Amino acid sequence: MIECPDIKKSVIKNHYDVSTLFYRLLWGPHIHHGYWLADESPAAAQIQLTATLAGLAKIQPKSVVYDIGCGMGGSSIWLAKNLQCQVTGVTLSPVQRQWATASAAIKGLQPRPQFRCEDAEATQFPEGSADVVWSIECTEHLFDKPAFFKKAASWIKPGGRFALLAWLSGALPMSDAHSQQALRVCEGMFCPSLGSQSDYVGWFEEAGLTVTAKGIWTKQVKKTWEICRKRVEKTGVRYLAKILGSNHVLFLDHFDAILNAYDSGAMEYGYFIAEKKD
Ligand SMILES: C[S@@+](CC[C@H](N)C(=O)[O-])C[C@H]1O[C@@H](n2cnc3c(N)ncnc32)[C@H](O)[C@@H]1O
Repeated sequence: MIECPDIKKSVIKNHYDVSTLFYRLLWGPHIHHGYWLADESPAAAQIQLTATLAGLAKIQPKSVVYDIGCGMGGSSIWLAKNLQCQVTGVTLSPVQRQWATASAAIKGLQPRPQFRCEDAEATQFPEGSADVVWSIECTEHLFDKPAFFKKAASWIKPGGRFALLAWLSGALPMSDAHSQQALRVCEGMFCPSLGSQSDYVGWFEEAGLTVTAKGIWTKQVKKTWEICRKRVEKTGVRYLAKILGSNHVLFLDHFDAILNAYDSGAMEYGYFIAEKKD
């Protein structure tokens, strides 16, 4: 695991409170990479990422889903709309909770997704209550990842699944140069650590889950940052970020760091499906 001990949870919360508007302007209602197979539009690629993960996790209609690190509710709303899932989303950011709640209400979804503003490392759900725990690009921000996976596994019913997408460090051990590239990403994107693919497999297994599918999608998602970089240059977003504070400029300035880390293999983008056996 690559560790960046200077990151503070209060900074992560503040980042999402303030930057949710940037994400919405620059990218859309999903705060995650797009998944490209051809020349899809960015909006279609974002939905394709969500739909592909839902397909791999074999999510059944009307499943009970906990969306950990739910952002503006992009996945929660998609799962409620397309699969009539009963979704509870959890986000650290009160702004995102309000945004997600309003978006779900405007869409008139039934059942309507519910959103909590809580720390995923402290939140509680009843044991064995979820068909699926779903998490896209949130576990990078967690401080005690093994403890989180143990807790989340307890929420899952026998036969249920954990569907996860995460930014990963490259396979360890890495050269000093590659470790520095991954650290630069952690610093700019507020990740206290980045696990490798094998770290994640270990955490699922220690939590009593069996990894039934896993893979690397770096090539399919990388275009996200090329598009975002162009959009930052073409719009007044950097000017707005300067007014709002240096952390937000730091974030915009790290798009190249991610692209470099993806190109060198210092960082990867991975999916995992893990099952709680009956
Ligand atoms: C990159 S965004 C992904 C959002 C969403 N999953 C999506 O795909 O649109 C990361 C999310 O993780 C959330 N997050 C980070 N740390 C968290 C924590 N400790 N507890 C709950 N949510 C957290 C942020 O608030 C944000 O919603």
